[in-house]
Amino acid sequence: MGWRGILGFEYGIVQAPLGPDISGPELVAAVANAGGLGLLRAPDWESPDYLRELIRKTRTLTDKPFGVGVVLAFPHKENIKAILDEKVAVLQISWGECSQELLLEARRAGVKVVLQVGSFEEAKRAVDAGVDAIIVQGLEAGGHVIGQEGLIALLPRVVDLVGDQDIPVIAAGGIVDARGYVAGLALGAQGVCLGTRFVATSESYAHPTYKRKLIEADQTEYTNVFGRARWPGAPHRVLQTPFFNQWRSLPLHENEANQPVIGRSTIHGVEKEIRQFAGTVPNLTTTGDIESMALYAGEGVGLIEEILPAGEVVRGLVEGAQHLIHNKFSGA
Ligand SMILES: Cc1cc2nc3c(=O)[nH]c(=O)nc-3n(C[C@H](O)[C@H](O)[C@H](O)COP(=O)(O)O)c2cc1C
Repeated sequence: MGWRGILGFEYGIVQAPLGPDISGPELVAAVANAGGLGLLRAPDWESPDYLRELIRKTRTLTDKPFGVGVVLAFPHKENIKAILDEKVAVLQISWGECSQELLLEARRAGVKVVLQVGSFEEAKRAVDAGVDAIIVQGLEAGGHVIGQEGLIALLPRVVDLVGDQDIPVIAAGGIVDARGYVAGLALGAQGVCLGTRFVATSESYAHPTYKRKLIEADQTEYTNVFGRARWPGAPHRVLQTPFFNQWRSLPLHENEANQPVIGRSTIHGVEKEIRQFAGTVPNLTTTGDIESMALYAGEGVGLIEEILPAGEVVRGLVEGAQHLIHNKFSGA
């Protein structure tokens, strides 16, 4: 049955790495303890010692395997070295190519490499490189969105491309419940990767106002309003808050660099000023005008009705999918 585990994990449920620091040890351990693949998020700067601490803290909360996500668009060599030294189960990478050198090093360390892609061409390069699994991100996804295509059309193409090679394909974008999970399986995926649903859990490091907005809101938009100076050319999907609706047509020459400071956050142990239009979502430490900050969310947000413990999200997906498959689609 397709809902069984991938990459040695009990289930095919992946909790996306949630930047900059929203998927911390508590969330990742809760997902791991429930049998899913939880992914920490490495800092966007070289900080291998801090990253080792994050990994070790997670290990105090679970004896199950887990992984770490690295955005290749930012400095990462030392961070990846720490991840491989620590021999976590999975290194998830995005926004870059997977080199042969990285794959060899990861293989030597016994770490599986999972690349998130947003196009058929990117998937083809990943398959040719020999990655261990591919996450296919559709345009519905929350956070930074690398491709331009909807999941329902892109995913089966990647599944066909992989064919009978042992490379699990994992669906991401707009999935929040068992129906989305079963839809992903029907399209040929072996697992699903959820971001927004896991932001709205008790263990996520998101600011309570951000979590509340995920429950209240149901409209998102694909935009490039936030974080243009720090990470140019990286469109994203955010909640349509009153602040966003006021500024959605922000002139292209404007960016966060010369804007007023609207708050402060400690991100991966470093204190930062948050300027208007900055691309960092508010975490538990953030002070200031939270509702005017970037609030990433996928198109499935309108289906999220309560903050749940992460383990319950995993169990709901698995049990719900089993129920749907047996009772609605078995043909018995
Ligand atoms: C708050 C937030 C932060 C994210 N940060 C990252 C990240 O650091 N690296 C990454 O590969 N994807 C990141 N994503 C995207 C996810 O990997 C995934 O593609 C997406 O969440 C799937 O869509 P969904 O949010 O509708 O479930 C982020 C998503 C959200 C909502």
